[in-house]
Amino acid sequence: MDTSAYLVPAYRSVLVEELRERGRAIGRAVLEVRDTDGAELERALVLGMAHYMGVIEGVMAVTGYDYFEEALTPSRILPRLLGGIRLIRADEGRHITAGMDYLRERLAARPELAEAVAQLFFERPSEYPRAPISSSKPIPLARIASA
Ligand SMILES: [Fe+2]
Repeated sequence: MDTSAYLVPAYRSVLVEELRERGRAIGRAVLEVRDTDGAELERALVLGMAHYMGVIEGVMAVTGYDYFEEALTPSRILPRLLGGIRLIRADEGRHITAGMDYLRERLAARPELAEAVAQLFFERPSEYPRAPISSSKPIPLARIASA
């Protein structure tokens, strides 16, 4: 089932079009015979991980969890839905941690990729769609730049 028709343009851009392009970049790098040192594949994987784990899961999804928390907690409605969302959030937090660990490790090995990741994280955040109600607590993405 293609649910992309339900996305507003800003979400579609990040969640579908840009993510699809990240996947294609990985595919091209895998198939690229000139990439003898693996640098193109490494770059595509690092930017793909930064996009998915950092931007989608680490920014967009977190603000969505905040939205549910702020919308449902005061009214105490749908407690089981909120409980389920908290479980999802905890699980997704592990994914984000794994992604940040991966980025920390790969950027330590390939510091030349750090600027592209920093640009993705720090120069474009205002473009990333967020849930309408959110405390927008900063997530620990900034740690990656200083690690
Ligand atoms: Fe995840």
